[in-house]
Amino acid sequence: MTNTATQIRPPEAQTGQDEFAQAVLDGLQSTPKAIPSKFFYDTKGSHLFEQICELEEYYPTRVELGILEAHAPDIAAIAGPDTTLVEFGSGAGVKVRLLLDALDAPRAYVPIDISRDHLLASSAQLNADYPDLSILPVHADFATPFDMPRMASSNVVGFFPGSTIGNLTAGEAEDFLHSAAETLGKGAGMVIGVDLIKDRDVLRAAYDDRKGVTAAFNLNLLERINRDLNGTFDLSHFTHKALFNETESRIEMHIEATQAQTVTVAGRPISFEKGERIHTENSHKYTVPGFSALAGRAGWSLRAVWTDENDWFAVLYLQRLDG
Ligand code: AVJ
Repeated sequence: MTNTATQIRPPEAQTGQDEFAQAVLDGLQSTPKAIPSKFFYDTKGSHLFEQICELEEYYPTRVELGILEAHAPDIAAIAGPDTTLVEFGSGAGVKVRLLLDALDAPRAYVPIDISRDHLLASSAQLNADYPDLSILPVHADFATPFDMPRMASSNVVGFFPGSTIGNLTAGEAEDFLHSAAETLGKGAGMVIGVDLIKDRDVLRAAYDDRKGVTAAFNLNLLERINRDLNGTFDLSHFTHKALFNETESRIEMHIEATQAQTVTVAGRPISFEKGERIHTENSHKYTVPGFSALAGRAGWSLRAVWTDENDWFAVLYLQRLDG
């Protein structure tokens, strides 16, 4: 058997339990151990993330919302009338409503999400509140190329809030922006939220809050492995770690073993030394010139940028270079 079968399999078929099992086993059998952060978001993880967004220490949600509230009219003025808004990863819908309310007669909203539940919920809610808007959900992993639904509008604008792009390494972010330019097409715009480099204590506190919500979010990954992959992790033998990696300009989250131990995952033994870590997330922090240079290498130019009064977060309006 060659690997042709897996190569031609469409991205949406390679999701769910298979993909989780494969990624966890690969990640726990590598050195250093690592699990991709996209697996945080099971039902409990998504709920914990919503709680993170309400924390005093977790500034990105609050600050980005403030920027979008203040500048939605400026964004709408650049986008112009008859816009098709394409959101990479459909959230609770709060941020996209700010844009939809400001846009001049938006034509369509295209939410892209890996979770059918998220897609259905966000589509139904928006459908009720925006009867003139066509809602064209796409079930896909937004990080891999997908086909845009057929639509009449030529005025396509991507929307990628929340600094989710920070989960990607600089190289991956560049690849993502490159393929987004292809997907959205000639003349497209892109509104993207980017978290900025700031005081290290502010950054660390945002990922290690006093109530322990972020710790619970991180450790929930072990609960998910126990439940879905027959894991035997004892959560009291692991602890949450958040640190700022200066060289890579990113917050890293890890799960650290507080004692040497061997656990079983899907029937396989996984050994930990005392202090050994599982790397669970990167959250890259940028400067505006640094991010704009990265976007430039991916075929986008910086059309406008808005920040908060402390320069903690930036919302950028990118324009595809060839139009
Ligand atoms: C959803 C990826 C933007 O990196 O800040 C929050 C996820 N992790 N607290 C981030 C997260 C821990 C969040 N993103």
